[in-house]
Amino acid sequence: MRGMKTCCIKVARVNPDKDAIARAAMVLCRGGLVAFPTETVYGLGAAAANTRAVARIFAVKGRPPDNPLIMHISSRSQLRALVKDITVEAELLMDNFWPGPLTIILPAAAGVPDIVTGGLTTVAVRMPDHPVALALIEAAGVPVAAPSANLSGQPSPTQAAHVLQDFDGRIEAILDGGPTGVGVESTVLDLTTQAPTVLRPGGITLEELSGCLGGVHINIADGAAKYAHYAPHAPLCLVSGSGPAVASKIRQLAEAEKRNGRRVGILTYADSEDFSSAGEVVFVGCKGSPETVAAGLYSALRRFNELAVDIILVEGLEEKGIGLTVMNRLKKAAGGRLIQV
Ligand code: TXA
Ligand code: MG
Repeated sequence: MRGMKTCCIKVARVNPDKDAIARAAMVLCRGGLVAFPTETVYGLGAAAANTRAVARIFAVKGRPPDNPLIMHISSRSQLRALVKDITVEAELLMDNFWPGPLTIILPAAAGVPDIVTGGLTTVAVRMPDHPVALALIEAAGVPVAAPSANLSGQPSPTQAAHVLQDFDGRIEAILDGGPTGVGVESTVLDLTTQAPTVLRPGGITLEELSGCLGGVHINIADGAAKYAHYAPHAPLCLVSGSGPAVASKIRQLAEAEKRNGRRVGILTYADSEDFSSAGEVVFVGCKGSPETVAAGLYSALRRFNELAVDIILVEGLEEKGIGLTVMNRLKKAAGGRLIQV
């Protein structure tokens, strides 16, 4: 349904204008789709109880119907209608990490629409740590079902401009609250399994979760995931390992590609080697500070689409803290193209 006018509503991150929020909430309540900033990435929201609006999220994203959505809430009182019961463990996690980038999977209450859960008996819930998101949900007065606001398979949006690249003319409105902070999605933690199990690493680290729960299980899809994800247009090749061998490998691969007439893109870090002679370099943060890499990662991946390179070479990070999350996204973007040196 391209052709509608997407209304772009600019708001301040802190103390967002009440009228602007009220307008966006009205769009949601009338069954429209509103993209909004969270602390992780922009979400594409619909009033969760409006099954027609939720169905449109799947349609515009091109998202498989069996991939369930996260329910976004602004207050814990909204949980009563969404989940069957709240365990002590869930309470503890909410006390420690909400509002924040932790999504918790709990048994779904009877009223939760199948279209949101993909027909599962569980539901994903999270309270985002962003004044604009919280104000929007609060003003709408209902839980907001929202996936990341990108076409299925593309890198998630961390700026309003990314959302418009994918959805201009196909959604009713976008609240532009500036760039998001964390830059990668929330951690998804399943509390319906025998032991708490991380299904997707994200903004809350495994170390933080273990510290709170005394350990967590991990069941993370990296390479051969069910759905292609986070991928820029050009194939991405992830080179990991340690020491100078990594940089030599990247240079060697770049040379081979260039000999075949290909335009080479290199994703690298401010504190890494100088690759400027090897290809089109895009910098993202410092590898010594994975938070800075997470914050700019998706923007950098989208930048390669503009540069129209034929292949992207990326140096891996240490899989610690949020570096684990960054590596998970890079592995998914790489598909099977992983080189260990
Ligand atoms: O940071 C985020 O989580 C962002 C912002 C907008 O909140 N949202 C986001 O949504 O990343 P999405 O739809 O792109 O990813 C949600 C993930 C998917 O991997 C989905 O399969 C999983 O959560 N999920 C949702 N409900 C689930 C359930 N009941 N059981 C298992 N996984 C579930
Ligand atoms: Mg997503």
